[in-house]
Amino acid sequence: MKILVTGGAGYIGSHTVVELAEAGYEPVIVDNFVNSQESVLAGLRAILGRDVPCYRVDCIDRAALRGVFEKEPGIGAVIHFAAFKAVGESVRKPLAYFENNTGSLLTLLEVMREFGVENLVFSSSCTVYGIPDALPVTELTPTKPASSPYGRTKQMCEDIIHDTAAAPDAHLRGILLRYFNPIGAHASARLGELPLGVPNNLVPFITQTAAGLRDKLTIFGSDYATPDGTNVRDYIHVGDLAQAHIAAVRRLLERTAPEAVETFNVGTGHGNTVLEVVHAFEQASGLKLNYVIGPRRAGDVPAIYADAIKAAQVLGFTTKTSLLDSLASAWQWQLTLADG
Ligand code: UFG
Repeated sequence: MKILVTGGAGYIGSHTVVELAEAGYEPVIVDNFVNSQESVLAGLRAILGRDVPCYRVDCIDRAALRGVFEKEPGIGAVIHFAAFKAVGESVRKPLAYFENNTGSLLTLLEVMREFGVENLVFSSSCTVYGIPDALPVTELTPTKPASSPYGRTKQMCEDIIHDTAAAPDAHLRGILLRYFNPIGAHASARLGELPLGVPNNLVPFITQTAAGLRDKLTIFGSDYATPDGTNVRDYIHVGDLAQAHIAAVRRLLERTAPEAVETFNVGTGHGNTVLEVVHAFEQASGLKLNYVIGPRRAGDVPAIYADAIKAAQVLGFTTKTSLLDSLASAWQWQLTLADG
């Protein structure tokens, strides 16, 4: 069974391609490589021992995307990762985010319909919950106005999928996966996060600091109403997160879902503060991290973590990798990158 993976050369996409192949599916990658690198394909080859078909196509390009569906008959489901994902950049370039993130979904949905492909897994984000009133957040926790255009595109895409599946003649079945904070790398250290320029995210910033590429980590605020004053997040190993996609694809192909579109949180169900992550990294790497406490970062949610019960009960999905092991894998990946 072929599974089309848009953004399959990206961070989460590439780990999911590995898990799909190892579960016996035939992943087919579509990626425009604006925020991913060709070296990922070599990493996939090293892990899987074979090439994964890859089309350098932008999902907004309808003719090119049609071409992929024509050349790859028998696609059973699509996993749609391809999107812009930098919160700060989305504030500076909102139109680019609306055009790319919603535009690519619209084109994909049209082409899927034309080719009779009915199953879609969509990459959503816990950002749709905004600043929640209570923790942990369940899938029934009301969404709040998004704090960035990026977050708004995720909310809009969820709505687009719901409305498309609800149309009278629609055959679309969707699973919306709301990711918490993915971290870490493949155990082989052949795949991992490849941030362009200065990382926005905590863990690549930590590993680059430990590797001497950055002077110090600045922790954005220590005066939040959390156990140690720093923000709380739900950090999930990227390989575990990838596994949630396999469970979602299976569920779509089995056609057992009572609703056309289902939503799942994908997190560990545990929150950790930024300081806890720093100290866990120090333990995992055996290094001391140079860090300072700085001012709060605009738009940061003080605390959020997942209620992971629905994913466990319905998808049979639970995470397996500890925070310590996740950070150890991130550090191994950083060391591999340093070796060139
Ligand atoms: N942090 C620091 N210093 C840094 C970087 C991050 O203290 O240099 C802190 C942040 O303030 C936050 C935590 O580390 O408390 C995690 O920050 P990330 O930027 O790694 O992740 P976010 O939770 O802010 O954002 C992530 C995804 C976004 C998504 C968001 C909500 O990166 O794409 O979750 O879903 F929108």
